[in-house]
Amino acid sequence: MAAIASEARPCAGADCDKEAGSLQCPTCLKQDIKDSFFCSQECFGRNWVAHKTIHKKAVKNLFNPFPNFNFTGSLRPVYPLSAKRVIPSSIPHPDYAADGIPKTSRTLLRPNKVELLDAKAQEGMRVVCGLAREVLDIAAAALRPGITTDEIDEIVHKACIERNSYPSPLNYNHFPKSVCTSVNEVICHGIPDKRMLLDGDIVNLDVTLYHKGYHGDLNETYYVGDKAKADPDAVRLIETARECLDEAIKMVRPGTLFRDFGNTIEKHAKERNCSVIRTYVGHGINSVFHAPPNIPHYAKNKAVGECKPGMTFTIEPMVALGKYRDVTWPDNWTSATIDGKRTAQFEHTLLVTETGVEVLTARKETSPGGPIPMPVVEAA
Ligand code: MF3
Ligand code: CO
Ligand code: CO
Repeated sequence: MAAIASEARPCAGADCDKEAGSLQCPTCLKQDIKDSFFCSQECFGRNWVAHKTIHKKAVKNLFNPFPNFNFTGSLRPVYPLSAKRVIPSSIPHPDYAADGIPKTSRTLLRPNKVELLDAKAQEGMRVVCGLAREVLDIAAAALRPGITTDEIDEIVHKACIERNSYPSPLNYNHFPKSVCTSVNEVICHGIPDKRMLLDGDIVNLDVTLYHKGYHGDLNETYYVGDKAKADPDAVRLIETARECLDEAIKMVRPGTLFRDFGNTIEKHAKERNCSVIRTYVGHGINSVFHAPPNIPHYAKNKAVGECKPGMTFTIEPMVALGKYRDVTWPDNWTSATIDGKRTAQFEHTLLVTETGVEVLTARKETSPGGPIPMPVVEAA
């Protein structure tokens, strides 16, 4: 079929009056600049010097939307956010996708009534959690200094679509993006934006998929660049958070009280001179994203109930180098530490079995990230 008039677009080369082909400037694509189509590679090259001023202008248009907010650390949001990403209507959407409001939530459900999944539902959870692991691993493999968290969001969004899955965060209580990206002092619920990750940053990627009626939820914290891996505080923080989750998982079996996880987690964190965030908790997860029970990660909590075969829930401890207190940015999502010190988090979705636990979101041999040795503390 011949190109129809409305599809024709002029070449972006200043000295060119040809029609553009499908060749787009890669830098413009990266910066979300539309309509940078060229007729040929040759023309693109010839017009490069003039064209690239557009990129500079785009960088100049980046801004902090909350200039008067008292940020607790050095991290700032970098706006504008990219345009809303869409999921094809052929992929089943959760009940909140259209209006942002979950129809079944922990507050609406009876708080102490935890669902027990039958074999078929358990298999549904196994499948979605396996897909969620694949997506997290794809996103983590893309991490490097210079990539923006928005680019990570695009990668997650596309990987979900390829797996016939809806990215559960998208429009959940109006969350604007498909993944949470939490950098440095951000505890959780960081919104992917135009900020580039820097060598020395740490970043948590929290991925949740909705597939065939079930949600699977996991997150990991990663070192960005070699500088982060050489930073003893970053390593102490991240490896402690990882171990806190691992220690808690070892306790999961029928009869374990929900309130006891926090004792183990906080004890381990304290041994490493870290604190445990109290505002955000692990949660039941099944056909509902956030279901009963609540799983606090701090010691001496009063969570009610115990593990029973067929339950699926997350444990997702957030550990801080400084104070456990949190503040929320004016975007109403981003939670940061009150002292601006860094935090790390790890999360798995777990199934309680007759004899113990199945880690539905377990790492694979090929998964990026993973533990690195703690810095050796020299004896005094
Ligand atoms: N994945 C997060 C959790 O572990 C929840 C994110 S809610 C969102 O529970 F809306 F911020 F995506
Ligand atoms: Co999560
Ligand atoms: Co979770």
